[in-house]
Amino acid sequence: MIEQRFNAIFGTTPQVVVRAPGRVNLIGEHTDYNDGFVLPAAIDRTIDFAGRKRADRTVRVYSLDFEGSVEFSLDDIQKDSANRWSNYVRGVSKYLEEDGHRLSGADLVFGGNVPREAGLSSSAAVEVGTAAFWKKLLGLELDPVYLVKLSRKAENQFVGVPCGIMDQFISGLGRANHALFLDCRDLHYRHVPLRDDVKLVVCNSGVKRALAQSEYEVRLKQCREAVARIASTGPAVTSLRDVTPADLERARSVLSDILFRRARHVVSENHRVLEAIQVLESGNLERFGELMNASHVSLRDDYEVSSKELDVLVEIAWKQPGVLGARMTGAGFGGCTVNLVRQEAAEAFAEAIVRGYNDALGLKAEIYICKASQGALSRGEAQR
Ligand code: GLA
Repeated sequence: MIEQRFNAIFGTTPQVVVRAPGRVNLIGEHTDYNDGFVLPAAIDRTIDFAGRKRADRTVRVYSLDFEGSVEFSLDDIQKDSANRWSNYVRGVSKYLEEDGHRLSGADLVFGGNVPREAGLSSSAAVEVGTAAFWKKLLGLELDPVYLVKLSRKAENQFVGVPCGIMDQFISGLGRANHALFLDCRDLHYRHVPLRDDVKLVVCNSGVKRALAQSEYEVRLKQCREAVARIASTGPAVTSLRDVTPADLERARSVLSDILFRRARHVVSENHRVLEAIQVLESGNLERFGELMNASHVSLRDDYEVSSKELDVLVEIAWKQPGVLGARMTGAGFGGCTVNLVRQEAAEAFAEAIVRGYNDALGLKAEIYICKASQGALSRGEAQR
């Protein structure tokens, strides 16, 4: 319990506790930074925060996962290269202060069970959790979408990772038993119910996302380059979101094979998300699963962000009874797969994956059977 940990470290009871969930993305991968569509769900794995106000301007933070503490002044928030885990907390605090929300000093403990570097957005959970913590501690009346954007800014500008908006959005605004359909251009969103006779099964390859950041930046640039070249052939496009399959075909001669395939992934993935929403809302989970499978193939072959381990996990999954769809989830190059599995088949599925992955590669997969959960900034907040 986070309250007890706070008590053990700071010798008193916390004033507030908040929890921010990790996420899994059902479909819509590498579309968020192209102004496109995504369909993530918050999961029932959270980063928990407990804290209380101090009378001064000092923030003392203890990380349960790193078993370490830092101390900083709200009047001079700098990046910490020795304790990098603290930069998510520092960045969010700094941008709140810069926006004129005067914070108070605080003692804070955080930690949880979202695995790190596994593609389940533990860093977004720390950012959004920090925002939720300040909101609750100080009773700030702040719009959740504003706090989501500020959390992303902390990741982009303070920590220095050029991610899109999906992870912070879902950690903030997830809803229990629902996925969230988000238009990353105008941030309109809608919650879409998930049926309780199917399970979200997440399989962790155990492989840390080695190339993720550098290759992510390469993909970002390739998408921008593709847009510029497609625009040069006539259509008024400002992002891949605007590009139709016909535009793409017409621009083929001005695109290298790589740029063509990168763009084809994003254009086709956006179409898959839109169809996925329709079939999910009409209850056609078989088709939903086919779209997940097609997303994986596109990420593997056109966008080239999968890995041997992820492909093996997905191929084993595709052969199991009761599986509707399986694909890699998140940025790629390691991390997790997401699988939609009929409830009665979920336990056997989990066992088959562990066995099959070990037989194929001699590696140990961790399996999380997840429930779609509440975000940290939604009414009611996240529950374990
Ligand atoms: C990471 C980023 C997200 C998104 C995904 C890929 O999780 O943080 O913004 O781009 O990769 O869909």
